[in-house]
Amino acid sequence: MSDARQIRIFDTTLRDGEQSPGCSMNLKEKLEVAQALIDLGVDIIEAGFPIASPGDFESVREIATSLGNRDVEICGLARSNDKDIDRAWEALKHSANPRIHVFLATSAIHREFKLKMSPEEIIDRAVAGVKRAKSYCDNIEFSPEDAARTEIDFLCQVVEKVIEAGATTVNIPDTVGYATPSHMHDVISSLVNRVPNIDQAVISVHCHDDLGMAVANSLAAVQAGAGQIECTINGIGERAGNTSLEEVVMAMRTRNDFYNCDTRVDSKRLVPASRLVSAVTGMHVQRNKAIVGRNAFAHEAGIHQDGMLKERSTYEIMRPEDVGFAATDLVLGKHSGRAALADRAKQLGFQLTGDQLQSIFGRFKKLADRKKEIFDGDIVALVQNEILAK
Ligand code: KIV
Ligand code: ZN
Repeated sequence: MSDARQIRIFDTTLRDGEQSPGCSMNLKEKLEVAQALIDLGVDIIEAGFPIASPGDFESVREIATSLGNRDVEICGLARSNDKDIDRAWEALKHSANPRIHVFLATSAIHREFKLKMSPEEIIDRAVAGVKRAKSYCDNIEFSPEDAARTEIDFLCQVVEKVIEAGATTVNIPDTVGYATPSHMHDVISSLVNRVPNIDQAVISVHCHDDLGMAVANSLAAVQAGAGQIECTINGIGERAGNTSLEEVVMAMRTRNDFYNCDTRVDSKRLVPASRLVSAVTGMHVQRNKAIVGRNAFAHEAGIHQDGMLKERSTYEIMRPEDVGFAATDLVLGKHSGRAALADRAKQLGFQLTGDQLQSIFGRFKKLADRKKEIFDGDIVALVQNEILAK
C-alpha cells in the first residue's frame, strides 16, 4: 500500500469561484456542480457565503440539506461577527457534516485601511468569532485574510489563539496572489515550527493566481506541511482566479515520486467537471489550459506524432483517459508528418500504399498551409481523389 500523505481537497468553486465577474450560478446549477464535486471525491465543498444574499443563503441551505453526507463536509463562509456566523449556521444546520469558515483580515494594510483595528482588537475579534462558531459545531476553519502579507510574528500569534479557541483548520490565504513558492514555504514552515499548538489543527492553503503562481504556491505549502488545499474547478475565482483543482491534483498524482502526497479525487471525472463548470458559468476554458484544455493532449508536430505512434510516453506524462478525455488527439495540420497522416487514413478505413501516401502527403501539406486545421472529411476527400484518379 502507498504511504502517500493524504491531502484534503477543499473546493470553493461555489464560493470564491462564483466571485469571478460574470460567473454567478442559479440554485439548480449550484446543485448540479455540488453533485459533480461529490462524485469527484472532494473532501470539503464551500457552498457559499450565506450572509451575502438570500440566494446564497438558499443555495448553501439546499446543498447542506439535500446533498450533505458523512463523506463530504459542507462549508459556509462568515466574517468574524455574530450576525454572519449565526446566518452561516442557519444555512448549514441540517448538514450531516457541517463546517463554519470564519475569516478576518490580519495584514497591516487591511488592519489600517479597511478594518481600522489594532493587532489586539484583531486577535480578540478572531477569537470571539471562532468561539461563537464553536458554539454551533465542532468543525471550525479560521482564515487570517491576507495572511501572506501579514507580519509573521503576528500571524503566529493569531494562529495560536484561534486554535486555542477551537479552530480545527487554519487556512493561510494568499488573498492577493502576492506570494512566491519559497515565500509560501517559509510562511507554513514558520507556523509549523513556532506555533506551539499547531498539531491540534490542519494547516490549509488558499492561493490566488495574480502572478500565475497559485498552483506552485499551494504545492510549496504542502511540502512545508499543509494538509489541505483550497481550489476551484478550472481555477475560477476573484480576479485572476484561485488554485486550479485539476492542476494540483494531477501534479501530486503524476509527481508522487517527488511530493509523496495524493488526494481522494477520481481523476477520470476532471474533464466532465471542468466542462460542467464552464457550461454553467459561461467561463470558457482556454485551449492550452493544463489538464482539461482541448489541447492538453493534442499533438501536431510531425516529430511528436511519430514518437507518440511508437510509444506514447515519449511526449505524454499523463494518460488522457486518466483525466477523462477519450484519447490522445493527433491533430493534423501543417506541422504533421507522414506517420500521422497514414495513421488517420487507416482509422478512417484506408490502408494506403507507400506511393499513395507519398502523393497524398504533398496535397495534404498544401491544404494544411491554407487551413488552420485538417478534419477527417478533408482526409477522406484527399484519399478518394487519389483512388479515383488512378
Ligand atoms: O482570498 C481570501 O482571502 C479568501 C478568504 C475568505 C479565505 O477567499
Ligand atoms: Zn480567496
